[in-house]
Amino acid sequence: MRGRHGGNIWSLLEKGISPAEILDFSVDLNPLGPPPGWEAVLREGLQEAVLYPDPAYRDLRQAIAAAEGISPDRVLPGNGTADLIHLITRWIKPERAAVAVPTFTEYERAVRADGGEVIPCPLQEQNGFLPGPAPETGAQLLFLCNPNNPTGRIWPRDRLLEWLVSCDRQGITAVVDEAYMDFVEDDLRVSAVGWLDRFPRLIVLRSMTKSFAVPGLRLGYLAASETIVSELGGIQPPWPVNGSAALAGRWLAGQKGYLEESRRSIRIFRQGLWEQLQKLPDLRCVPSEANFILCRLAGPVWGARRLAAALAERGILIRTCDDFTGLEEDRFFRIAVRRPEQNERLLRALKEIFGHAG
Ligand SMILES: Cc1ncc(COP(=O)(O)O)c(C=O)c1O
Repeated sequence: MRGRHGGNIWSLLEKGISPAEILDFSVDLNPLGPPPGWEAVLREGLQEAVLYPDPAYRDLRQAIAAAEGISPDRVLPGNGTADLIHLITRWIKPERAAVAVPTFTEYERAVRADGGEVIPCPLQEQNGFLPGPAPETGAQLLFLCNPNNPTGRIWPRDRLLEWLVSCDRQGITAVVDEAYMDFVEDDLRVSAVGWLDRFPRLIVLRSMTKSFAVPGLRLGYLAASETIVSELGGIQPPWPVNGSAALAGRWLAGQKGYLEESRRSIRIFRQGLWEQLQKLPDLRCVPSEANFILCRLAGPVWGARRLAAALAERGILIRTCDDFTGLEEDRFFRIAVRRPEQNERLLRALKEIFGHAG
């Protein structure tokens, strides 16, 4: 259970390193942090802690639906997107579930936890980790992530559509996880929410955790047909979102301007980081359309685990990728795009470490 995703600063705290000293590149949150004013909203949300939340989350769903341009009956909030991934596998209990890999590991874990077999659909490294033609898998469920974690690649619109059409034809429920879609530039951003009418078995996941950098709040939602929302809602434990998070979520759903500003900043921050990474001969990085970059260690001297340990000694966390299906062991790591001065600190540490290698 412990430490299977990024953001695990707790292991460093155990070693006596204080939170202020830690620079966490292992978790991919909005580098601008939460929107200004959020603390006042949280304080207001404290009052909600003395009441049970509205079991139907009417206000929260209304706010999310308004932001998405869909009916509230098509929105189901959850205790983070991770919670909803497990809800979906518990509902479908697929014998076989296709997963476009390498990707967020929780899909595979959820499928197996509900007794299913994972059918990996490889996104090939030699193809820049972009998807090929839709495969025939004999699965009941498909998970894909757009933009994909850990590669940072956005699915080309037509290819995504082809996979969704193929799922529709085969009666497969398709889950498109858009946890990082808010960070993708306007001309590349294609949310599958716009296709809900066309594909009745489509489920789209979104994460407020990521978009607004509030991972401790635990807040995500899915958008799907009214039937799917009602069936999934029917097996969800009561009050999956606490009252304070629900109130904050209502406010966050209205922060569209903040997301636009975030996208503009991420583009600039990512470009700066990318250019500097290109100058490090020890690394080959995957072009990213998201707020993180996947890096491959080019030479034989450094493995990802040893590099992560060397950085941790300097208070910097990166995400090693050994647990991602389809990535060569001990070669890959993922870093978040953070603010320029923080990116600088990582780059300085990398240069220092590689300079001392051998
Ligand atoms: C692709 C993807 N989906 C979902 C999640 C979980 O997000 P949440 O904090 O909303 O549960 C993550 C977290 O790393 C992720 O990378």
